[in-house]
Amino acid sequence: MTKLKCSFYLLWFFLLSSSISLTLATSDYILFTKSRWIVNKKGHRVKLACANWPSHLKPVVAEGLSKQPMDSISKSIRDMGFNCVRFTWPLELMTNDTLAFNVTVRQSFERYGLNQDLDGIHNHNPSIVDIPLINAFQAVVYSLGRHDVMVILDNHKTVPGWCCSNNDPDAFFGDPKFDPDQWILGLRKMATIFQNVKNVVGMSLRNELRGAKEDPKDWYKYMQKGAEAVHTSNPNVLVILSGLDFDADLSFLKNHQVNLSFKNKLVFELHWYAFTNDAPWKSNNVNDFCAHMFAHERRNGGFLLEKGFPLFLSEFGTDLRGGDFQGNRYMNCMLAWAAEKDIDWAVWALTGDYYLREGKRNVVEAYGMLDSNWHDARNSSYLQRLSVIQPPHKGPGLRHNHHKKIFHPLTGLCIVRKSLCHDSELVLGPCTKEEPWSYNHHGTLMIKTHKSICVEGGKVAGEVVKLGKECSKIERISASKMHLSLKDKNGSLLCLDVDSKNNVVWSLCKCLTGDATCEPESQWFQIF
Ligand SMILES: *[C@@H]1O[C@H](CO)[C@@H](O)[C@H](O)[C@H]1NC(C)=O
Ligand SMILES: *[C@@H]1O[C@H](CO)[C@@H](O)[C@H](O)[C@H]1NC(C)=O
Ligand SMILES: *[C@@H]1O[C@H](CO)[C@@H](O)[C@H](O)[C@H]1NC(C)=O
Ligand SMILES: *[C@@H]1O[C@H](CO)[C@@H](O)[C@H](O)[C@H]1NC(C)=O
Ligand SMILES: *[C@@H]1O[C@H](CO)[C@@H](O)[C@H](O)[C@H]1NC(C)=O
Repeated sequence: MTKLKCSFYLLWFFLLSSSISLTLATSDYILFTKSRWIVNKKGHRVKLACANWPSHLKPVVAEGLSKQPMDSISKSIRDMGFNCVRFTWPLELMTNDTLAFNVTVRQSFERYGLNQDLDGIHNHNPSIVDIPLINAFQAVVYSLGRHDVMVILDNHKTVPGWCCSNNDPDAFFGDPKFDPDQWILGLRKMATIFQNVKNVVGMSLRNELRGAKEDPKDWYKYMQKGAEAVHTSNPNVLVILSGLDFDADLSFLKNHQVNLSFKNKLVFELHWYAFTNDAPWKSNNVNDFCAHMFAHERRNGGFLLEKGFPLFLSEFGTDLRGGDFQGNRYMNCMLAWAAEKDIDWAVWALTGDYYLREGKRNVVEAYGMLDSNWHDARNSSYLQRLSVIQPPHKGPGLRHNHHKKIFHPLTGLCIVRKSLCHDSELVLGPCTKEEPWSYNHHGTLMIKTHKSICVEGGKVAGEVVKLGKECSKIERISASKMHLSLKDKNGSLLCLDVDSKNNVVWSLCKCLTGDATCEPESQWFQIF
Protein backbone atom coordinates (compact mmCIF):
# COMPACT_ATOMS: atom_id res chain seq x y z
CA MET A 1 0.00 0.00 0.00
CA THR A 2 2.71 2.44 1.02
CA LYS A 3 4.68 1.50 -2.08
CA LEU A 4 1.67 2.22 -4.24
CA LYS A 5 1.14 5.62 -2.68
CA CYS A 6 4.77 6.42 -3.19
CA SER A 7 4.78 5.58 -6.85
CA PHE A 8 1.70 7.66 -7.52
CA TYR A 9 3.54 10.66 -6.25
CA LEU A 10 5.65 10.97 -9.36
CA LEU A 11 2.62 11.40 -11.57
CA TRP A 12 1.32 13.96 -9.13
CA PHE A 13 4.25 16.20 -9.24
CA PHE A 14 4.55 16.08 -13.01
CA LEU A 15 0.96 17.24 -13.21
CA LEU A 16 1.60 19.88 -10.61
CA SER A 17 4.79 21.22 -12.06
CA SER A 18 3.34 21.47 -15.53
CA SER A 19 0.38 23.44 -14.27
CA ILE A 20 2.45 25.95 -12.36
CA SER A 21 2.61 28.77 -14.83
CA LEU A 22 6.05 30.19 -15.25
CA THR A 23 4.99 33.73 -15.87
CA LEU A 24 7.85 36.06 -15.26
CA ALA A 25 5.56 38.93 -14.42
CA THR A 26 6.95 42.19 -15.59
CA SER A 27 4.03 44.52 -15.07
CA ASP A 28 6.30 46.92 -13.24
CA TYR A 29 8.69 47.75 -16.01
CA ILE A 30 11.14 50.33 -14.76
CA LEU A 31 14.28 48.48 -13.84
CA PHE A 32 17.26 49.31 -11.67
CA THR A 33 20.36 47.54 -10.52
CA LYS A 34 21.04 46.44 -6.98
CA SER A 35 24.57 45.06 -6.76
CA ARG A 36 24.72 42.28 -9.38
CA TRP A 37 20.94 42.01 -9.73
CA ILE A 38 18.46 43.71 -12.00
CA VAL A 39 15.43 44.64 -9.90
CA ASN A 40 12.07 46.39 -10.18
CA LYS A 41 10.89 49.38 -8.20
CA LYS A 42 10.08 47.17 -5.24
CA GLY A 43 13.63 45.89 -5.21
CA HIS A 44 12.59 42.41 -6.39
CA ARG A 45 14.70 40.62 -8.93
CA VAL A 46 13.61 40.66 -12.58
CA LYS A 47 15.68 38.19 -14.59
CA LEU A 48 16.16 39.01 -18.25
CA ALA A 49 15.52 35.88 -20.31
CA CYS A 50 15.58 37.31 -23.82
CA ALA A 51 15.82 36.36 -27.46
CA ASN A 52 17.60 38.55 -30.00
CA TRP A 53 15.20 39.77 -32.69
CA PRO A 54 17.16 41.26 -35.59
CA SER A 55 15.91 44.39 -37.33
CA HIS A 56 19.27 45.74 -38.47
CA LEU A 57 19.70 44.02 -41.82
CA LYS A 58 19.36 45.82 -45.16
CA PRO A 59 15.55 46.14 -45.29
CA VAL A 60 15.59 47.61 -41.71
CA VAL A 61 12.40 45.75 -40.86
CA ALA A 62 12.10 43.25 -38.02
CA GLU A 63 12.61 39.80 -39.52
CA GLY A 64 9.70 37.41 -39.85
CA LEU A 65 6.89 39.86 -40.58
CA SER A 66 6.34 38.31 -44.01
CA LYS A 67 5.56 34.99 -42.30
CA GLN A 68 3.40 35.81 -39.27
CA PRO A 69 1.49 38.75 -37.78
CA MET A 70 3.75 40.55 -35.34
CA ASP A 71 1.32 39.85 -32.50
CA SER A 72 1.58 36.16 -33.21
CA ILE A 73 5.38 36.35 -33.04
CA SER A 74 5.18 38.34 -29.80
CA LYS A 75 2.90 35.68 -28.38
CA SER A 76 5.27 32.89 -29.45
CA ILE A 77 8.08 34.67 -27.63
CA ARG A 78 6.05 34.59 -24.43
CA ASP A 79 4.89 31.03 -25.02
CA MET A 80 8.50 29.89 -25.34
CA GLY A 81 9.16 31.34 -21.89
CA PHE A 82 11.10 34.46 -22.85
CA ASN A 83 10.19 37.69 -21.09
CA CYS A 84 12.25 40.01 -23.22
CA VAL A 85 13.68 40.79 -26.64
CA ARG A 86 17.01 42.35 -27.53
CA PHE A 87 15.79 44.28 -30.54
CA THR A 88 18.57 45.30 -32.92
CA TRP A 89 18.72 48.52 -34.97
CA PRO A 90 21.23 50.14 -37.29
CA LEU A 91 22.43 53.61 -36.30
CA GLU A 92 21.36 55.04 -39.69
CA LEU A 93 17.75 54.54 -38.70
CA MET A 94 18.32 57.44 -36.31
CA THR A 95 20.89 59.51 -38.17
CA ASN A 96 19.49 59.37 -41.71
CA ASP A 97 16.04 60.93 -41.74
CA THR A 98 15.45 59.91 -45.32
CA LEU A 99 15.87 56.28 -44.36
CA ALA A 100 13.74 56.58 -41.22
CA PHE A 101 10.89 58.79 -42.44
CA ASN A 102 10.92 58.76 -46.23
CA VAL A 103 11.32 55.08 -46.98
CA THR A 104 8.26 52.90 -46.43
CA VAL A 105 8.36 49.18 -45.78
CA ARG A 106 7.05 48.67 -49.32
CA GLN A 107 9.81 50.82 -50.83
CA SER A 108 12.48 49.14 -48.75
CA PHE A 109 11.43 45.66 -49.91
CA GLU A 110 10.99 46.75 -53.51
CA ARG A 111 14.42 48.22 -53.75
CA TYR A 112 16.01 44.92 -52.74
CA GLY A 113 13.70 42.97 -55.05
CA LEU A 114 12.04 41.20 -52.12
CA ASN A 115 8.63 41.04 -53.78
CA GLN A 116 7.64 37.70 -52.35
CA ASP A 117 8.34 38.92 -48.82
CA LEU A 118 6.44 42.10 -49.57
CA ASP A 119 3.41 39.97 -50.48
CA GLY A 120 3.86 38.13 -47.19
CA ILE A 121 3.87 41.40 -45.28
CA HIS A 122 0.72 42.40 -47.15
CA ASN A 123 -0.93 39.21 -45.96
CA HIS A 124 0.28 39.10 -42.38
CA ASN A 125 0.99 42.69 -41.40
CA PRO A 126 -0.98 44.90 -43.80
CA SER A 127 -0.90 47.89 -41.47
CA ILE A 128 2.83 48.42 -41.87
CA VAL A 129 3.19 48.14 -45.66
CA ASP A 130 2.92 51.83 -46.39
CA ILE A 131 4.37 53.34 -43.27
CA PRO A 132 7.94 54.63 -42.83
CA LEU A 133 10.61 52.27 -41.48
CA ILE A 134 10.82 54.02 -38.13
CA ASN A 135 7.09 53.53 -37.58
CA ALA A 136 7.34 49.86 -38.46
CA PHE A 137 10.12 49.56 -35.88
CA GLN A 138 7.92 51.24 -33.26
CA ALA A 139 4.97 49.02 -34.16
CA VAL A 140 6.98 45.91 -33.26
CA VAL A 141 8.00 47.39 -29.91
CA TYR A 142 4.33 48.17 -29.15
CA SER A 143 3.30 44.67 -30.16
CA LEU A 144 5.86 43.23 -27.74
CA GLY A 145 4.48 45.55 -25.06
CA ARG A 146 0.97 44.23 -25.63
CA HIS A 147 2.30 40.76 -24.85
CA ASP A 148 4.20 41.81 -21.76
CA VAL A 149 7.58 41.39 -23.41
CA MET A 150 10.32 43.77 -22.33
CA VAL A 151 12.58 45.31 -24.96
CA ILE A 152 16.25 46.16 -24.96
CA LEU A 153 17.11 48.36 -27.91
CA ASP A 154 20.45 47.26 -29.27
CA ASN A 155 22.42 49.52 -31.59
CA HIS A 156 23.89 46.67 -33.55
CA LYS A 157 25.96 48.59 -36.14
CA THR A 158 25.87 51.76 -38.23
CA VAL A 159 25.03 50.71 -41.80
CA PRO A 160 22.13 48.28 -42.22
CA GLY A 161 23.42 44.78 -42.96
CA TRP A 162 24.76 41.59 -41.42
CA CYS A 163 27.29 41.89 -38.62
CA CYS A 164 30.22 41.54 -37.81
CA SER A 165 33.79 41.30 -39.01
CA ASN A 166 37.04 42.97 -38.08
CA ASN A 167 37.18 44.81 -41.42
CA ASP A 168 33.77 46.45 -41.17
CA PRO A 169 33.84 50.23 -41.68
CA ASP A 170 31.83 50.57 -38.45
CA ALA A 171 33.83 48.32 -36.12
CA PHE A 172 35.18 50.90 -33.68
CA PHE A 173 34.90 54.58 -32.81
CA GLY A 174 36.59 56.65 -35.49
CA ASP A 175 36.12 54.14 -38.31
CA PRO A 176 34.78 55.62 -41.57
CA LYS A 177 31.19 54.67 -40.68
CA PHE A 178 31.48 55.14 -36.93
CA ASP A 179 31.60 58.81 -36.04
CA PRO A 180 31.23 59.04 -32.24
CA ASP A 181 29.22 62.26 -32.45
CA GLN A 182 26.75 60.77 -34.89
CA TRP A 183 26.48 57.73 -32.68
CA ILE A 184 25.68 59.83 -29.62
CA LEU A 185 23.14 61.80 -31.61
CA GLY A 186 21.48 58.56 -32.73
CA LEU A 187 21.43 57.15 -29.20
CA ARG A 188 19.81 60.35 -27.92
CA LYS A 189 17.11 60.18 -30.55
CA MET A 190 16.36 56.53 -29.97
CA ALA A 191 16.25 57.02 -26.19
CA THR A 192 13.89 59.96 -26.65
CA ILE A 193 11.51 58.23 -29.07
CA PHE A 194 10.89 55.47 -26.54
CA GLN A 195 10.87 57.71 -23.47
CA ASN A 196 7.28 56.91 -22.56
CA VAL A 197 7.12 53.38 -23.86
CA LYS A 198 6.98 51.32 -20.71
CA ASN A 199 8.20 47.97 -21.99
CA VAL A 200 11.46 49.48 -23.27
CA VAL A 201 13.65 48.72 -20.28
CA GLY A 202 17.17 49.05 -21.56
CA MET A 203 19.51 50.22 -24.27
CA SER A 204 22.49 48.28 -25.40
CA LEU A 205 24.73 51.10 -26.59
CA ARG A 206 26.77 49.35 -29.28
CA ASN A 207 27.13 45.74 -30.23
CA GLU A 208 30.51 43.99 -30.53
CA LEU A 209 33.18 46.70 -30.68
CA ARG A 210 36.17 45.33 -32.56
CA GLY A 211 38.76 45.95 -35.27
CA ALA A 212 42.20 47.45 -35.66
CA LYS A 213 41.35 50.68 -33.87
CA GLU A 214 39.97 49.18 -30.68
CA ASP A 215 41.50 50.54 -27.52
CA PRO A 216 40.30 50.63 -23.89
CA LYS A 217 41.11 54.35 -23.58
CA ASP A 218 38.66 55.25 -26.32
CA TRP A 219 36.21 52.74 -24.92
CA TYR A 220 36.00 54.70 -21.65
CA LYS A 221 35.93 58.04 -23.39
CA TYR A 222 33.05 57.28 -25.73
CA MET A 223 31.08 54.72 -23.76
CA GLN A 224 30.86 57.13 -20.83
CA LYS A 225 29.63 59.89 -23.15
CA GLY A 226 27.13 57.56 -24.78
CA ALA A 227 25.90 56.36 -21.39
CA GLU A 228 25.36 59.92 -20.15
CA ALA A 229 23.57 60.86 -23.37
CA VAL A 230 21.16 57.93 -23.07
CA HIS A 231 20.54 58.54 -19.40
CA THR A 232 19.84 62.24 -19.91
CA SER A 233 17.42 61.51 -22.75
CA ASN A 234 15.65 58.65 -21.01
CA PRO A 235 16.50 58.13 -17.33
CA ASN A 236 14.21 55.07 -17.14
CA VAL A 237 16.30 52.69 -19.23
CA LEU A 238 19.13 50.46 -18.12
CA VAL A 239 22.37 51.49 -19.80
CA ILE A 240 24.11 48.41 -21.15
CA LEU A 241 27.77 48.49 -22.16
CA SER A 242 29.41 45.97 -24.46
CA GLY A 243 33.10 45.01 -24.30
CA LEU A 244 35.98 44.80 -26.76
CA ASP A 245 36.92 41.99 -29.12
CA PHE A 246 33.38 41.23 -30.33
CA ASP A 247 32.13 41.72 -26.77
CA ALA A 248 34.17 38.79 -25.52
CA ASP A 249 36.41 40.97 -23.37
CA LEU A 250 35.52 43.17 -20.41
CA SER A 251 38.72 42.33 -18.54
CA PHE A 252 39.98 45.92 -18.74
CA LEU A 253 37.28 46.88 -16.20
CA LYS A 254 39.12 44.94 -13.51
CA ASN A 255 41.26 47.88 -12.50
CA HIS A 256 39.41 50.86 -13.87
CA GLN A 257 35.71 51.46 -13.38
CA VAL A 258 33.53 53.61 -15.59
CA ASN A 259 32.81 57.03 -14.18
CA LEU A 260 29.15 58.00 -14.57
CA SER A 261 27.01 60.69 -13.01
CA PHE A 262 24.09 58.31 -12.35
CA LYS A 263 23.61 55.23 -10.21
CA ASN A 264 21.74 51.91 -10.28
CA LYS A 265 21.30 51.75 -14.05
CA LEU A 266 24.57 50.32 -15.34
CA VAL A 267 24.78 46.79 -16.79
CA PHE A 268 27.59 45.14 -18.75
CA GLU A 269 27.05 42.68 -21.56
CA LEU A 270 29.16 39.77 -22.74
CA HIS A 271 28.99 37.39 -25.71
CA TRP A 272 30.08 33.78 -25.68
CA TYR A 273 29.85 31.37 -28.61
CA ALA A 274 31.64 28.12 -29.41
CA PHE A 275 33.82 30.06 -31.86
CA THR A 276 34.59 32.96 -29.49
CA ASN A 277 38.38 33.40 -29.34
CA ASP A 278 38.71 30.46 -31.79
CA ALA A 279 38.20 28.09 -28.86
CA PRO A 280 39.48 24.61 -29.80
CA TRP A 281 36.63 22.55 -28.34
CA LYS A 282 37.36 19.79 -30.83
CA SER A 283 40.96 19.11 -29.94
CA ASN A 284 40.74 19.13 -26.14
CA ASN A 285 39.32 16.94 -23.45
CA VAL A 286 35.86 18.47 -23.00
CA ASN A 287 35.99 18.32 -19.26
CA ASP A 288 39.35 20.05 -18.99
CA PHE A 289 38.44 22.54 -21.66
CA CYS A 290 35.15 23.46 -20.06
CA ALA A 291 37.00 24.16 -16.81
CA HIS A 292 39.44 26.29 -18.79
CA MET A 293 36.52 28.23 -20.30
CA PHE A 294 34.90 28.76 -16.89
CA ALA A 295 38.12 30.48 -15.82
CA HIS A 296 38.35 32.36 -19.11
CA GLU A 297 34.79 33.71 -18.86
CA ARG A 298 35.39 34.73 -15.28
CA ARG A 299 38.48 36.74 -16.26
CA ASN A 300 36.79 38.28 -19.29
CA GLY A 301 33.56 39.36 -17.63
CA GLY A 302 32.26 37.03 -14.92
CA PHE A 303 34.33 38.87 -12.30
CA LEU A 304 31.96 41.83 -12.67
CA LEU A 305 29.27 39.86 -10.83
CA GLU A 306 31.64 39.55 -7.89
CA LYS A 307 32.30 43.28 -8.07
CA GLY A 308 28.57 43.96 -7.81
CA PHE A 309 27.53 44.67 -11.40
CA PRO A 310 24.89 42.85 -13.42
CA LEU A 311 26.33 40.99 -16.39
CA PHE A 312 24.01 40.30 -19.31
CA LEU A 313 25.06 37.38 -21.52
CA SER A 314 23.46 39.12 -24.47
CA GLU A 315 24.52 36.67 -27.18
CA PHE A 316 25.17 32.95 -27.12
CA GLY A 317 23.82 30.00 -29.05
CA THR A 318 24.58 27.21 -31.41
CA ASP A 319 23.16 25.24 -34.32
CA LEU A 320 19.86 23.78 -33.10
CA ARG A 321 19.92 20.95 -35.60
CA GLY A 322 22.49 19.21 -33.45
CA GLY A 323 25.18 18.75 -36.12
CA ASP A 324 27.71 21.25 -34.77
CA PHE A 325 30.25 19.12 -32.93
CA GLN A 326 32.07 21.99 -31.23
CA GLY A 327 28.82 23.85 -30.62
CA ASN A 328 27.30 20.88 -28.79
CA ARG A 329 30.30 20.59 -26.51
CA TYR A 330 30.26 24.31 -25.83
CA MET A 331 26.51 24.42 -25.20
CA ASN A 332 26.60 21.98 -22.26
CA CYS A 333 29.47 23.87 -20.66
CA MET A 334 27.93 27.27 -21.29
CA LEU A 335 24.54 26.23 -19.89
CA ALA A 336 26.17 24.88 -16.73
CA TRP A 337 27.91 28.23 -16.32
CA ALA A 338 24.83 30.34 -17.03
CA ALA A 339 22.76 28.27 -14.59
CA GLU A 340 25.31 28.46 -11.82
CA LYS A 341 25.77 32.22 -12.23
CA ASP A 342 22.00 32.67 -12.60
CA ILE A 343 22.94 35.26 -15.18
CA ASP A 344 20.65 37.50 -17.25
CA TRP A 345 20.80 36.53 -20.92
CA ALA A 346 19.64 36.83 -24.52
CA VAL A 347 19.94 33.89 -26.88
CA TRP A 348 20.95 34.36 -30.51
CA ALA A 349 18.35 34.36 -31.99
CA LEU A 350 14.60 34.40 -32.35
CA THR A 351 14.97 34.30 -36.13
CA GLY A 352 13.35 31.68 -38.26
CA ASP A 353 14.89 33.07 -41.44
CA TYR A 354 16.18 36.39 -42.80
CA TYR A 355 14.61 38.30 -45.71
CA LEU A 356 18.07 39.06 -47.06
CA ARG A 357 21.38 38.20 -45.47
CA GLU A 358 24.75 38.81 -47.10
CA GLY A 359 23.13 38.98 -50.54
CA LYS A 360 21.07 35.80 -50.17
CA ARG A 361 17.29 35.60 -49.78
CA ASN A 362 15.36 33.64 -47.16
CA VAL A 363 18.42 32.49 -45.28
CA VAL A 364 17.51 30.06 -42.50
CA GLU A 365 18.91 30.87 -39.04
CA ALA A 366 20.17 27.52 -37.76
CA TYR A 367 20.65 29.14 -34.32
CA GLY A 368 17.05 30.39 -34.29
CA MET A 369 14.34 29.50 -31.81
CA LEU A 370 11.59 29.57 -34.44
CA ASP A 371 11.31 27.51 -37.56
CA SER A 372 11.33 29.33 -40.91
CA ASN A 373 7.53 29.55 -40.70
CA TRP A 374 8.07 31.80 -37.64
CA HIS A 375 5.48 29.84 -35.73
CA ASP A 376 6.81 26.46 -34.60
CA ALA A 377 9.79 25.94 -32.36
CA ARG A 378 12.80 24.77 -34.35
CA ASN A 379 13.86 22.33 -31.64
CA SER A 380 11.77 21.74 -28.53
CA SER A 381 14.54 19.92 -26.70
CA TYR A 382 16.76 22.98 -27.08
CA LEU A 383 13.98 25.11 -25.58
CA GLN A 384 13.67 22.59 -22.76
CA ARG A 385 17.32 23.15 -21.94
CA LEU A 386 16.96 26.93 -22.05
CA SER A 387 13.87 26.78 -19.84
CA VAL A 388 16.11 25.95 -16.90
CA ILE A 389 17.81 29.32 -17.02
CA GLN A 390 14.63 31.31 -17.71
CA PRO A 391 13.34 31.71 -14.15
CA PRO A 392 15.49 33.42 -11.54
CA HIS A 393 17.00 31.06 -8.99
CA LYS A 394 18.26 33.50 -6.41
CA GLY A 395 18.42 37.22 -5.75
CA PRO A 396 16.36 39.80 -3.89
CA GLY A 397 12.69 39.07 -3.34
CA LEU A 398 12.75 35.35 -4.21
CA ARG A 399 11.67 32.49 -1.99
CA HIS A 400 13.38 29.09 -1.61
CA ASN A 401 16.69 30.42 -2.77
CA HIS A 402 18.61 28.43 -0.16
CA HIS A 403 17.75 25.16 -1.91
CA LYS A 404 20.15 23.72 -4.44
CA LYS A 405 19.32 22.24 -7.81
CA ILE A 406 21.29 19.45 -9.41
CA PHE A 407 21.14 20.36 -13.06
CA HIS A 408 21.92 18.08 -16.00
CA PRO A 409 22.84 20.44 -18.86
CA LEU A 410 22.65 17.76 -21.55
CA THR A 411 18.90 17.27 -21.07
CA GLY A 412 17.93 20.48 -19.34
CA LEU A 413 16.46 18.45 -16.48
CA CYS A 414 17.30 18.19 -12.77
CA ILE A 415 17.66 15.35 -10.30
CA VAL A 416 14.38 14.77 -8.47
CA ARG A 417 12.86 12.03 -6.32
CA LYS A 418 10.83 9.41 -8.10
CA SER A 419 8.55 9.18 -5.06
CA LEU A 420 8.25 10.64 -1.58
CA CYS A 421 9.44 7.39 0.03
CA HIS A 422 12.59 7.51 2.13
CA ASP A 423 14.34 5.02 -0.11
CA SER A 424 13.24 6.77 -3.27
CA GLU A 425 15.13 6.27 -6.47
CA LEU A 426 16.39 9.35 -8.26
CA VAL A 427 15.36 10.35 -11.76
CA LEU A 428 15.62 13.34 -14.03
CA GLY A 429 12.61 15.64 -13.87
CA PRO A 430 11.67 19.24 -14.41
CA CYS A 431 13.90 21.77 -12.68
CA THR A 432 10.80 23.71 -11.66
CA LYS A 433 10.17 21.05 -9.03
CA GLU A 434 11.39 22.52 -5.76
CA GLU A 435 13.37 19.63 -4.30
CA PRO A 436 15.02 20.76 -1.05
CA TRP A 437 18.54 19.65 -1.99
CA SER A 438 21.57 20.68 -0.03
CA TYR A 439 25.22 19.86 -0.52
CA ASN A 440 27.65 20.42 2.33
CA HIS A 441 31.41 20.44 2.76
CA HIS A 442 31.36 16.81 3.94
CA GLY A 443 30.13 15.90 0.48
CA THR A 444 26.67 14.96 1.68
CA LEU A 445 24.06 15.37 -0.99
CA MET A 446 20.88 15.61 1.03
CA ILE A 447 17.14 16.18 0.72
CA LYS A 448 16.22 18.29 3.71
CA THR A 449 12.75 17.40 4.88
CA HIS A 450 11.65 16.77 8.48
CA LYS A 451 13.79 13.61 8.31
CA SER A 452 16.79 14.26 6.14
CA ILE A 453 17.78 11.65 3.61
CA CYS A 454 20.77 11.57 1.37
CA VAL A 455 22.38 9.90 -1.61
CA GLU A 456 23.57 6.46 -0.53
CA GLY A 457 26.73 4.75 -1.60
CA GLY A 458 27.89 1.14 -1.50
CA LYS A 459 26.76 0.65 -5.06
CA VAL A 460 28.04 -0.99 -8.19
CA ALA A 461 28.09 0.32 -11.71
CA GLY A 462 24.67 0.08 -13.35
CA GLU A 463 22.64 0.42 -10.17
CA VAL A 464 20.00 3.08 -9.82
CA VAL A 465 20.93 5.88 -7.41
CA LYS A 466 18.83 5.87 -4.24
CA LEU A 467 18.20 7.97 -1.20
CA GLY A 468 18.65 6.54 2.26
CA LYS A 469 19.96 7.08 5.75
CA GLU A 470 23.55 6.04 5.09
CA CYS A 471 25.03 9.14 3.55
CA SER A 472 28.04 8.71 1.37
CA LYS A 473 30.61 11.28 0.52
CA ILE A 474 29.92 12.56 -2.97
CA GLU A 475 32.82 14.50 -4.40
CA ARG A 476 32.82 16.92 -7.27
CA ILE A 477 35.79 15.54 -9.13
CA SER A 478 37.43 16.45 -12.46
CA ALA A 479 38.45 19.92 -13.53
CA SER A 480 34.92 21.03 -14.40
CA LYS A 481 33.69 19.91 -10.96
CA MET A 482 30.63 18.47 -12.67
CA HIS A 483 31.34 14.77 -12.10
CA LEU A 484 29.62 13.73 -8.85
CA SER A 485 31.51 10.74 -7.67
CA LEU A 486 32.29 8.18 -4.99
CA LYS A 487 34.49 5.09 -4.74
CA ASP A 488 32.92 1.64 -4.88
CA LYS A 489 34.08 -1.24 -2.63
CA ASN A 490 36.93 -2.04 -4.98
CA GLY A 491 38.11 1.54 -5.14
CA SER A 492 36.84 2.30 -8.64
CA LEU A 493 35.37 5.74 -9.22
CA LEU A 494 31.64 5.71 -9.84
CA CYS A 495 29.86 8.78 -11.16
CA LEU A 496 26.25 9.83 -11.33
CA ASP A 497 24.99 9.18 -14.84
CA VAL A 498 21.70 8.86 -16.66
CA ASP A 499 20.25 5.85 -18.46
CA SER A 500 18.02 5.88 -21.53
CA LYS A 501 14.89 6.12 -19.35
CA ASN A 502 16.19 9.14 -17.45
CA ASN A 503 16.91 7.14 -14.30
CA VAL A 504 19.91 8.44 -12.40
CA VAL A 505 22.41 5.57 -12.19
CA TRP A 506 25.94 4.86 -11.01
CA SER A 507 28.44 4.37 -13.85
CA LEU A 508 32.20 4.17 -14.07
CA CYS A 509 33.40 7.76 -14.40
CA LYS A 510 34.29 8.66 -17.95
CA CYS A 511 36.33 11.23 -19.85
CA LEU A 512 37.76 12.79 -16.68
CA THR A 513 40.84 14.12 -18.42
CA GLY A 514 43.12 13.68 -21.41
CA ASP A 515 41.02 12.01 -24.07
CA ALA A 516 39.78 14.59 -26.60
CA THR A 517 37.45 12.19 -28.40
CA CYS A 518 35.33 11.26 -25.43
CA GLU A 519 32.02 12.91 -24.35
CA PRO A 520 31.53 13.23 -20.57
CA GLU A 521 28.26 15.18 -20.77
CA SER A 522 25.84 12.47 -19.61
CA GLN A 523 27.81 12.55 -16.33
CA TRP A 524 27.79 16.32 -15.96
CA PHE A 525 25.71 17.71 -13.12
CA GLN A 526 25.93 21.29 -11.98
CA ILE A 527 24.94 21.98 -8.39
CA PHE A 528 23.66 25.53 -8.08
C1 LIG B 1 11.06 63.26 -47.90
O1 LIG B 1 10.34 63.25 -49.11
C2 LIG B 1 9.70 64.49 -49.39
C3 LIG B 1 8.84 64.34 -50.63
O2 LIG B 1 9.38 63.41 -51.52
C4 LIG B 1 10.77 65.55 -49.56
O3 LIG B 1 10.18 66.79 -49.79
C5 LIG B 1 11.58 65.63 -48.26
O4 LIG B 1 12.64 66.54 -48.41
C6 LIG B 1 12.15 64.28 -47.91
N1 LIG B 1 12.75 64.37 -46.60
C7 LIG B 1 13.89 63.77 -46.28
C8 LIG B 1 14.35 63.93 -44.87
O5 LIG B 1 14.53 63.10 -47.08
C1 LIG C 1 20.06 57.88 -46.35
O1 LIG C 1 19.13 56.88 -46.71
C2 LIG C 1 18.71 56.96 -48.05
C3 LIG C 1 17.62 55.93 -48.21
O2 LIG C 1 18.09 54.66 -47.89
C4 LIG C 1 19.90 56.72 -48.95
O3 LIG C 1 19.49 56.80 -50.28
C5 LIG C 1 20.97 57.75 -48.66
O4 LIG C 1 22.11 57.46 -49.40
C6 LIG C 1 21.29 57.75 -47.19
N1 LIG C 1 22.17 58.86 -46.88
C7 LIG C 1 23.36 58.68 -46.33
C8 LIG C 1 24.11 59.94 -46.05
O5 LIG C 1 23.80 57.60 -46.07
C1 LIG D 1 34.33 61.47 -12.98
O1 LIG D 1 33.62 62.40 -13.78
C2 LIG D 1 33.39 63.63 -13.17
C3 LIG D 1 32.48 64.44 -14.05
O2 LIG D 1 32.86 64.38 -15.38
C4 LIG D 1 34.75 64.32 -12.91
O3 LIG D 1 34.54 65.55 -12.27
C5 LIG D 1 35.57 63.40 -12.04
O4 LIG D 1 36.86 63.94 -11.88
C6 LIG D 1 35.70 62.01 -12.64
N1 LIG D 1 36.34 61.13 -11.71
C7 LIG D 1 37.32 60.32 -12.04
C8 LIG D 1 37.86 59.43 -10.96
O5 LIG D 1 37.76 60.26 -13.18
C1 LIG E 1 17.33 19.02 -31.56
O1 LIG E 1 18.52 19.04 -30.82
C2 LIG E 1 18.96 17.76 -30.44
C3 LIG E 1 20.12 17.91 -29.48
O2 LIG E 1 21.06 18.82 -29.94
C4 LIG E 1 19.30 16.95 -31.66
O3 LIG E 1 19.76 15.69 -31.30
C5 LIG E 1 18.07 16.86 -32.53
O4 LIG E 1 18.36 16.18 -33.71
C6 LIG E 1 17.53 18.24 -32.84
N1 LIG E 1 16.25 18.12 -33.51
C7 LIG E 1 15.97 18.79 -34.61
C8 LIG E 1 14.57 18.63 -35.13
O5 LIG E 1 16.76 19.51 -35.18
C1 LIG F 1 35.25 -5.97 -7.15
O1 LIG F 1 36.21 -6.80 -7.77
C2 LIG F 1 35.85 -8.17 -7.81
C3 LIG F 1 37.03 -8.94 -8.35
O2 LIG F 1 37.53 -8.32 -9.52
C4 LIG F 1 34.59 -8.31 -8.65
O3 LIG F 1 34.21 -9.66 -8.69
C5 LIG F 1 33.49 -7.49 -8.03
O4 LIG F 1 32.32 -7.53 -8.83
C6 LIG F 1 33.93 -6.05 -7.86
N1 LIG F 1 32.95 -5.35 -7.12
C7 LIG F 1 32.46 -4.17 -7.52
C8 LIG F 1 31.52 -3.53 -6.57
O5 LIG F 1 32.75 -3.65 -8.58
